[in-house]
Amino acid sequence: MNSVSTQNARVLSGMRPTGRLHLGHYHGVLKNWLELQHEYECFFFVADWHALTTHYEDPSIIPDSTREMVIDWLAAGINPGSATIFVQSHVPEHAELHLLLSMITPLGWLERVPTYKDQQDKLKEHDLSTYGFLGYPLLQSADILIYKAGGVPVGEDQVAHVELTREVARRFNHIYGREPDFEQKAEEAKKKMGKKNAKLFDSLKRRYQEQGDQEALEVARALLEGQGNITLADRERLFGYLEGGGRIILPEPRALLTKASRMPGLDGQKMSKSYSNTIALRDSPKEVEKSLRTMPTDPARVRRTDPGDPEKCPVWQFHQVYSNDQVRDWVQEGCRSAGIGCLECKQPVIEGVLAELVPIQQRAQEYEAQPDLVRSVLNEGCEKARDVARETIEEVRHAMSLVMA
Ligand code: TRP
Ligand code: SF4
Repeated sequence: MNSVSTQNARVLSGMRPTGRLHLGHYHGVLKNWLELQHEYECFFFVADWHALTTHYEDPSIIPDSTREMVIDWLAAGINPGSATIFVQSHVPEHAELHLLLSMITPLGWLERVPTYKDQQDKLKEHDLSTYGFLGYPLLQSADILIYKAGGVPVGEDQVAHVELTREVARRFNHIYGREPDFEQKAEEAKKKMGKKNAKLFDSLKRRYQEQGDQEALEVARALLEGQGNITLADRERLFGYLEGGGRIILPEPRALLTKASRMPGLDGQKMSKSYSNTIALRDSPKEVEKSLRTMPTDPARVRRTDPGDPEKCPVWQFHQVYSNDQVRDWVQEGCRSAGIGCLECKQPVIEGVLAELVPIQQRAQEYEAQPDLVRSVLNEGCEKARDVARETIEEVRHAMSLVMA
């Protein structure tokens, strides 16, 4: 995974409220978030407005889906002490930024985002020829830019949205980051860092601008990060000055590409609710066991004495997630020689999945029993998120001259 530059060590990601999560979400997304929450300042939110862009006709399930999904985040180990967890629609600043960004976003940019046509074709049962749906990726840009996030963990399908976000940010900075007396202001800001730092800044800036020295850029950014006694606006000027442009009000984020999950569904296809091949994080041990016991295996193994091929069997894919080398060797050998039966082969997988789910389900029960606790996690997260979002929106209003004369 790419690292997040020191300039912006904030990480943000969102999920549409889909209700209870399954092992595919756990292995594909949540485990990644768990790691990130220890390394960066993380914001994780429920994208309920995004859900409305496609499910506007039947929004009544959104509150329950939100709650169940958040319980699963917490159960998986997302820690409200390290990550800020909130609901998008409770932070109206996202909407204001979306509106303001819409002023400068060419229609063609949105029409050309690949998910626009793809989803319209795929979700035929919904009429997606709406203004809201066209704006889906721009709303996502606002989600990201309102926190000035440096890194956005997403799957392959969302990379185009982060790319759009970068373009919109660049355009914003280009239009609103240019002040007539930019150079002079930047020079003044530089002096405020003290003689020694100003000199260091100059030499790093030269190394970056004249020789394209990326390391010099990183060091200079760290230098600016470390300045406690200059204003936010001055720091933005200096970030912009460093790179040779105007003020950088909305920094460009980077996609932190999550590698495709190796977690298959019970039938070997990708695990997904729409294929009915999932194991939910809160399925009871009985249900889990039953799902695994009845899952298909290599069709060549009709009788116990027929040899099989793990490559043709979804159970093997589970072994790749849950078993060590020794067990895998045992499967390879036992399957090909018909030395083991399929139920026998599944046993270590059943044990592995159940063991993984024990702590998750324990935590889930605690949160299920305390609805107020979940509510207060979200309320506190919302407050923290709003503090950051309000600061950004203030700067954006200023930059766009939305201030009293
Ligand atoms: N569109 C994302 C998805 O469907 C969810 C999302 C909304 C998101 N806003 C975001 C993801 C901001 C990352 C950052 O998965
Ligand atoms: Fe699949 Fe294991 Fe049966 Fe082979 S022995 S077909 S790998 S379940």
